Amino acid sequence: MRAADVSSDITEVLVTEEQISAKLEEVAARVDADYEGKDLLLVGVLKGAIMVMADFSRALKVTAPMDWMAVSSYGAGTKSSGVVQIRKDLDTDILGKHVLIVEDIIDSGLTLSWLLENFTARGAASVEVFALLRKPEAAKVEVPCKYVGFDIPTEFVVGYGLDYAERYRNLRDVAILAPHVYS
Ligand code: PRP
Repeated sequence: MRAADVSSDITEVLVTEEQISAKLEEVAARVDADYEGKDLLLVGVLKGAIMVMADFSRALKVTAPMDWMAVSSYGAGTKSSGVVQIRKDLDTDILGKHVLIVEDIIDSGLTLSWLLENFTARGAASVEVFALLRKPEAAKVEVPCKYVGFDIPTEFVVGYGLDYAERYRNLRDVAILAPHVYS
């Protein structure tokens, strides 16, 4: 669905489907060049990254395998706890691999910070991050992110994989959720 289909639930479209598509082509061209001749493994972080992984991986010209992690950063009840639990681990041994983590969004940065440390400890040859969206003002830790799609304000955004109570992931655009939906 598009933003117009849920217009009463959103206040503003931040990034359109067309802008996302153009950005993915641009980042894919950089990744193709940067990883030429290297053993690249794409790792998506469930569930938010499913859309960006699907479209980004198909924009690449190399046959990069993909794997998935599911983590929960809520831990002791707050998102800012930094306690990350693995709900689904990788199926792949990443020793010696060049890992590119594909994320929908960096908010506080705590999830990715933990993942970077974890993957490095498993002996990956390199670990880099592609995040489609980043909220710079929400950062609690700085995450070295080589590829960023769009910097956005600290608003409650949904769409293109991002949810509110599991809804709106199938919205093609990224939009700010209207407060009446969640308050
Ligand atoms: C979101 C997002 C990132 C994480 C970013 O996932 O997909 O993984 O939060 O937040 P952080 O930078 O503050 O750590 P979420 O835990 O909402 O799960 P989901 O992807 O299944 O919706």
